[in-house]
Amino acid sequence: MRPSSIGIDDMTEARFLMYKGVLLPALVHSAKTLMLFEKFLFRPDDILIVTYPKSGTTWMQEIVPLIMSGGDPASVETSPNWERVPWLEVDHTWTLNIDDKPSPRMFATHFLPRMMPPSFFEVKPKVIYVMREPKDVFTSSFHYCAMASFMVDPGPKSEFLQKFLQGEVVYGSWFEHVKAWLDYKEEIFRICYKELIQDLEDSVGRIALFLGKSLDNDVIAKIAERCLFKNMKKNNMSNYSTVPKEIMDTTKSEFLRKGVVGDWKNQLTVAEAEYFNDVYAEKMKDVDYEFAWNLKNTRS
Ligand code: A3P
Repeated sequence: MRPSSIGIDDMTEARFLMYKGVLLPALVHSAKTLMLFEKFLFRPDDILIVTYPKSGTTWMQEIVPLIMSGGDPASVETSPNWERVPWLEVDHTWTLNIDDKPSPRMFATHFLPRMMPPSFFEVKPKVIYVMREPKDVFTSSFHYCAMASFMVDPGPKSEFLQKFLQGEVVYGSWFEHVKAWLDYKEEIFRICYKELIQDLEDSVGRIALFLGKSLDNDVIAKIAERCLFKNMKKNNMSNYSTVPKEIMDTTKSEFLRKGVVGDWKNQLTVAEAEYFNDVYAEKMKDVDYEFAWNLKNTRS
C-alpha cells in the first residue's frame, strides 16, 4: 500500500513501510526484521514494556532494569536503553542474540495486540502498558518528529494535529493503540505517565510487586530518585546523547525534553485544545477506564 493512500503524501515508500495497516519508518524496521518478529518465541518470564510512542517508554526502560537488578546502577549504566530493553520490532535488536539472553529478558514494543506474534498469545509474558495524556503525546511527538531524521517531518503544527488525531502518523492512531491494549483481556499492568510523575516511589513499588520482585523500601526510594527526570537526564546510556546528529538532532529538541504533565498548554491554542478534547470525547466515549489525566491529582 502506498502511504499516500492513507492521506500522507510527504514521504516515499523507500522511507516508510505499511505493516498491518500501521505506518513504520523503514530505516529502523525492515521487512526481514518484521518476519523474524513474527516468529519470535516469548518466554513466560519475559517482561514486555508496551507504549504508544512518547508515552514514557524510555522512563520504563530505566525503571524496570533497576527493579529487576535490585537497584544495581550498572543495570542502566553499561548499555544504552535500546539494548538493555530492546524494541522487538527494531532492526538493531536482531543483532543482539536475544534468543540466547538469560531470563528474565526485558523488551519493549510500540505494536498493537493484533500485531503481536502467535507466541505472545500462547506464552503470555508480563506486560507493562504505559499511557500518557494524548495532548502531551502529541506535543512530545511534534518535537520528536522534528529532531529524529527517520520520522515524518511534522510540518506545520495544525497539519500535524490533524494527522495525529486521524492516526495518519508513524505507529498509527493513539486512540486505536490505547483502546486495543485496554481491551486486551489478559492480566497486564497498566499505568499512566501522570501516576509516575505524581508518585514515582509508589509507582516503582507497584511495578516491582507486579514483576514479583520483593524490594526493601529504601531500594525502591533509591530507584525512584535515580529515575527522576533531572537525574535520568544525566545518564548518557538513556538520554540518547550518543546518537549521531544526523539521526537525532538535539539542537532542534532534546530527547528527554521537558518530562512534565501538561506541556500541551504551551503548544496548543485554546481552540485547538477544545477541538482535540471534542475528538477525544467522541473516540473514547465507550471506554470505561479511569485515566489519571482525567482525575484531579489522585491516583487512578
Ligand atoms: P517530553 O517530550 O514531553 O519531555 P518515550 O520514551 O516513550 O519516547 O517518551 C519520551 C517522553 O517521556 C519525553 O517527553 C521525555 O522527556 C519523557 N520522559 C522520559 N524519561 C522521563 C522521566 N524520568 N521523567 C519524566 N518524563 C520522562
